[in-house]
Amino acid sequence: MNDRAAAFDVERARRETPGVERVVHLNNAGAALMPDVVLSAMVGHLEREAAIGGYEAAADAADAVEHTYDAIARLLNCARDELAIVENATRAWDMAFYAIPFEPGDRILTSAAEYESTYVAFLQVCRRTGATVEIVPSDPTGQVSVEALEAMVDDRVRLISLTHVPTNGGLVNPAAEVGRVARRHGIPFLLDACQSAGQLPLDVEELGCDILSATGRKYLRGPRGTGFLYVRRSLIGQLEPPLLDLHAAEWVARDEYRIRPDARRFENWETNYAAKIALGVAVDYALGWGSEAIWDRVQGLGAALRERLARVPGVTVLDVGGVRCGIVSFSCDGLEGAAVQRRLRADAINVSVSPRRYTRIDMEDRGLAEVVRASVHYYNTESELDRLAERLDRLRQAI
Ligand SMILES: Cc1ncc(COP(=O)(O)O)c(C=O)c1O
Repeated sequence: MNDRAAAFDVERARRETPGVERVVHLNNAGAALMPDVVLSAMVGHLEREAAIGGYEAAADAADAVEHTYDAIARLLNCARDELAIVENATRAWDMAFYAIPFEPGDRILTSAAEYESTYVAFLQVCRRTGATVEIVPSDPTGQVSVEALEAMVDDRVRLISLTHVPTNGGLVNPAAEVGRVARRHGIPFLLDACQSAGQLPLDVEELGCDILSATGRKYLRGPRGTGFLYVRRSLIGQLEPPLLDLHAAEWVARDEYRIRPDARRFENWETNYAAKIALGVAVDYALGWGSEAIWDRVQGLGAALRERLARVPGVTVLDVGGVRCGIVSFSCDGLEGAAVQRRLRADAINVSVSPRRYTRIDMEDRGLAEVVRASVHYYNTESELDRLAERLDRLRQAI
C-alpha cells in the first residue's frame, strides 16, 4: 500500500462505524456500513416525524434537505439545480435515459460491462423506437477501448452510455477519455457512476459527462433507497421526463402544464426525507475524508486483497482493466458462489455473488457463470483481508 493510503486514519473511521464491531464487511459494493453520523441523522428525523408529524418535520428540516443538493454538487463539481435526488441509481438513470427522444436508426454506443437494468432499458427502448444498441469492444486490458469507440462514431450516434465501475469486478473504465470523444463529436454522454461515487473522485467537468447517475448506499455509505442524477444544465430543457407529477410540473391551466426548468423535473413529490437528509450527511462525511484519500486507501486495499487471494490455492482472481478499484472478484474451485457466501457469513464475513445475468455481455465473453465479490472500503483493515484469505483457504481444504 502506498504512503498516502497507509496514512489514512483507519482507527477513527472504525470508531465512527458501529458495524465493524460485528462483521468483516466486504460487501461495500452492495451497501456499505453507515457511519454513526448518517445513522443518527436518519433516526433523528424519523423520531421528529413520529413526534410532530411528517410534513411538519420536513418543513423544520428544510435547510438540511436543501443542503443535500449542495453536498452532492460539491462532490460532483456541478450546480445544485443540475441535480435530482431519487430512490436509487436505476431510477436516476432511467429518468434521463427514457427522456431521450430516440428515432429509428439512432445508435447507442455502450460497453461490455453494462448492468442488467441498464441493458434491459436499452433493449426496450430500441424495440420501441427503432434505435440500436452496440457494444464498443474492450481493449486488451479489459476496459472499453477508446480507439474502437472513436472508430464507431458517426452522425447517427445519439448517445454514449458507459458504466464507470461495473458491478462484477475491479474494472475502472476510462470515463474521462470516453468523455473527450463524446465532447469532440457533440454526443451526449451518460455515465453510470453507481459503483464509483464515493469510491473515487468524480468531477463532471473532467469526466465530460452530460448525465451521471449514482446511488447513496454503496461507496457513499448513505442509507438504502437513495440515489441521484446529474444533468448538465444545457441539456435539462431538452429532456422531457418520462413521468411527471405535481413536483416535476405545474398544472397551470385546465389543459396545460409547465415542466419545471431545473433537474428536479426528474424527481417525484413524495420522498423519504430522513434518507434524503442522511444522504447529505453521508456525502459531507465522504468529503470530510477527501475523495483522493478515499480512493488511495480503497485502491490500496483492493490490490492488497488481490495479492492475498492469488496466494490461496484454488482461488482465482478475475478482475480486469488497466486501473482496478476496491471491488475484487474471484472464483473458488469446487465451490459455488452461494456456498462461499453462506459459509463466510457464518463466520461474520460479508461478501456477495454476482451472477452472469447482472453483466451478461462481459460474463459471457469471459465464459463466467458467476463471480464471488469482495468489495473493500477504507474502514476495512489488512487483518480483515487476512481473515478472508485464511477462511477461503480452509474452505478449499475442506472440500
Ligand atoms: C454498475 C451498477 N449500475 C447500476 C446499479 C443499480 O443501482 P441501484 O440498485 O441503486 O438502482 C448497480 C447496482 O448494483 C450497479 O452495480
